[in-house]
Amino acid sequence: MALMEVALFFLRATTPYLLLLVFLLLSFLIYFYLPYWKVRRIPGPPAKFLVGHLPLLAEYGPDIMKFLAKNYGPIFRFHMGRQPLVMVADPELCREVGIKKFKQIKNRSSPTPTSGSAMHQQGLFLTRGSRWSFMRNTITSLYQPSHLSSLIPTMQSYVDLLLRNISNLEKKEEDIPFSELTLRMAIDIIGETAFGVHFGLSNEASFKQHIEERIDDEGDEEDEVSSFLKQHMRSINSLKMDLSSSFSTILGLLVPILQIPCRNILQLIQGTADYKVKQTNKKLCQKIDAIITKRSSERTKCSKDFLSVVLGARESGIGKELFTHNYIRALTYEQLLAGTKTTAFTLAMTVYLISKYADVERKLLQEIDGFGSSHLIPTAEDLNCRFPYLDQVVKETMRFVTVSPLVARETSQEVEIGGYVLPKGTWVWLALGALAKDPKQFPDPEVFRPERFDPNSDEEKRRNPYANIPFGIGPRACIGQKFALQEIKLALICLYRNYIFRHSAKMESPLELEYGLVLGFKRGVKIRAIKRML
Ligand code: HEM
Repeated sequence: MALMEVALFFLRATTPYLLLLVFLLLSFLIYFYLPYWKVRRIPGPPAKFLVGHLPLLAEYGPDIMKFLAKNYGPIFRFHMGRQPLVMVADPELCREVGIKKFKQIKNRSSPTPTSGSAMHQQGLFLTRGSRWSFMRNTITSLYQPSHLSSLIPTMQSYVDLLLRNISNLEKKEEDIPFSELTLRMAIDIIGETAFGVHFGLSNEASFKQHIEERIDDEGDEEDEVSSFLKQHMRSINSLKMDLSSSFSTILGLLVPILQIPCRNILQLIQGTADYKVKQTNKKLCQKIDAIITKRSSERTKCSKDFLSVVLGARESGIGKELFTHNYIRALTYEQLLAGTKTTAFTLAMTVYLISKYADVERKLLQEIDGFGSSHLIPTAEDLNCRFPYLDQVVKETMRFVTVSPLVARETSQEVEIGGYVLPKGTWVWLALGALAKDPKQFPDPEVFRPERFDPNSDEEKRRNPYANIPFGIGPRACIGQKFALQEIKLALICLYRNYIFRHSAKMESPLELEYGLVLGFKRGVKIRAIKRML
């Protein structure tokens, strides 16, 4: 009897807590599964509780999309923790998302690592609606052919510095840390052309330490330039998309509403990854602010660099409201973020691949040598028309290894894609990397064959025009596409006029890549240069 009474008493006392627990658990499950429920009809592999398909991404990288597209069709579900992504891996469906239904899918979803960070959210990449249209229209003139062709002498001067650094190392018969050199060049070019600032990263003739070593170096004694580069690289590297990121980012993937409060707390605790990210971004902001202040005082009415144009736009009309200091800072940072690692990676990857394929190298040298005297600097028009094989080599490199394999978009109203109704707020991502390896569009996709882009080849004629879109698609496609291609082609022409390259014995094989917001090299591309005797 007494036992019965104790049990009843215990039950009465704990019932409210049990009910609360059940309520909380149910609320969490509803919160957790609600986004999935809205897109449940779309096929996809079974997802693990909490983490979804993140372990697949961590294990296989973005290549996993290729296999999922093969098994689940051109439109499938992929769960980044709680957040389902509707992946699109078909050229016609990409056209539907990027062009035909652009009005309903105008914005980008915000990748978890950038969530709540003004420096990332206020750039062109993540701004939304009419603010995005205004910002894009303001800066678009800077990427038009007439302006780009005026940048050739500046780009060429940094390519010359790249050559000088290569020459120094070649004479000493040393390995060339090529991907680090191309990154320095890309940052210098953005510095000069976009901000009117000479970072001088390519001036350092002696590369005693590679960039990665500098990044790991915690010492205080460093010059302004290496400190800037360090903060920039740390900031880029902190933008990871898998389970190796900071705690608040991982939490953001699982329970998004807790990400920002958790980050705010962790940022106060020394030693946490969030603390480090905050300190890095704070230092970077200070450096970017210094660039903006300098440009503000130096610019004239004739200045045509990126920063001067943006600073000028805030002097009249709606620009006053839209281009506040924080937005200008975010746009400035974005030039460095979007315009450097991508371009440097593509250039380094092109040289890496050419060095592997003797036939490609031979054909390319023939074309470059046929252009004329080695002192003749190609014009923008020459770059567009006089180097068709170079064009094919760069296209094939970007297909073979797509530096930006996933492109994020988000529906701003209900829309139908590929026979599925997607509610407002659905994250729709274009799987550019999977498109580029589709055997229906690119026979033998794992073979590096630039000739597949020969405009007279059957393969090129048969291919869907939206199968190869490494710079994205539609009005929201990469604004810097022509800028990047001009820089890459100019550099390749000058490099191959003077040298051919071979992989260093110290390079790993196969080449290892890492996945942040864009692809990067795990250990860099190291090569040996062989002087050409012409
Ligand atoms: C090889 C080099 C590059 C590659 C592969 C690349 C790739 C991309 C891709 C795939 C997108 C998303 C497009 C979409 O959603 O459809 C993008 C957007 C963007 N890129 Fe690039 N990019 C490169 C170089 C550059 C450069 C040099 C700059 C600037 C100087 C730049 C600035 C941007 C910006 C601002 C956006 C956002 C555009 C918007 O939302 O309106 N990119 N890029």
